[in-house]
Amino acid sequence: MSYDQAEKLRSQLASHRTAKTIAICSGKGGVGKSNFTLNFAIKLASQNNRILIFDLDVGMGNIDLLLGMQTKHSIADALNNRISIEEAIVKSNYGVDYIPGGSGLRDILEIDQHNKKIFSQGLASVLREYDFVLFDMGAGVTETALFFILAADECFVITTPEPTSITDAYGMVKHILVNQVNMPIYTILNRSRNNSDGKTVLNNFHKVIHRFLDGGAQALGLIPEDANVVKAVMHQEPYTILYPKTKASKAMELILQSYVQQTSNRSRKSGSFLERIKYFIVENRP
Ligand SMILES: Nc1ncnc2c1ncn2[C@@H]1O[C@H](COP(=O)(O)OP(=O)(O)OP(=O)(O)O)[C@@H](O)[C@H]1O
Ligand SMILES: [Mg+2]
Repeated sequence: MSYDQAEKLRSQLASHRTAKTIAICSGKGGVGKSNFTLNFAIKLASQNNRILIFDLDVGMGNIDLLLGMQTKHSIADALNNRISIEEAIVKSNYGVDYIPGGSGLRDILEIDQHNKKIFSQGLASVLREYDFVLFDMGAGVTETALFFILAADECFVITTPEPTSITDAYGMVKHILVNQVNMPIYTILNRSRNNSDGKTVLNNFHKVIHRFLDGGAQALGLIPEDANVVKAVMHQEPYTILYPKTKASKAMELILQSYVQQTSNRSRKSGSFLERIKYFIVENRP
């Protein structure tokens, strides 16, 4: 193969490469999804990955609050075609870009066919610019949220050790696997008060998943209860930046290592996120 041919092939491959999409979800609200998403994104970015967070909270967007940023536009403006998706992207100081969430997300299934088409074309070009796109799923599990979760390449399910949180997380894992049996699911136990108890809780959770659900899930690890997480939220700065040596930041480092290890020998889910999301959104099918 000549140098020119190789160059052409490389640029063709590059133009077809799209980001890996990960939906960060939970059963119960308030378990730490937005904090996880932002800090995991910062860790991934520190390994030379281009990262976009898509804040899919239909209420108040969370990511700008955690970053202490104020934004003019939200995803709602892009959905209604007032601005392009690219224009909705905000650059943070931490090597992570994000698209703010907002109440207009509720309308994603109701926008007209023309705008849906423009939106999915915009999404396609945005996905080519990043290595990972993380969806921070909001508190409520709306129909739109479920579409994004099922369309993603991978799902992370976050829970705290509380029985109600675990039960709801199980419900979410079940919902995903019933609809997408080969979805790669990774779990994280957040706010663990004690390392060995946390491991037991996570192991038991996985035993139940493997016993009752086809497909299964893999554990990524624990994040301890850490007062510095709360302090960083109050300061509106990511905890891995403000307190890089704190317990939660160290745990996040281990989670990143575990993720990189577990995904390096795993093939990607078949089909692309874009094909799936077009099917869900443009054709409006469950
Ligand atoms: N590891 C931790 N240690 C201590 N507190 C934590 C930890 N993780 C999260 N929190 C607390 O939980 C709060 C909620 O976290 P976060 O906003 O990330 O949850 P969420 O799942 O995104 O919520 P929602 O479902 O409303 O979107 C944080 O503001 C913080 O006070
Ligand atoms: Mg949140």
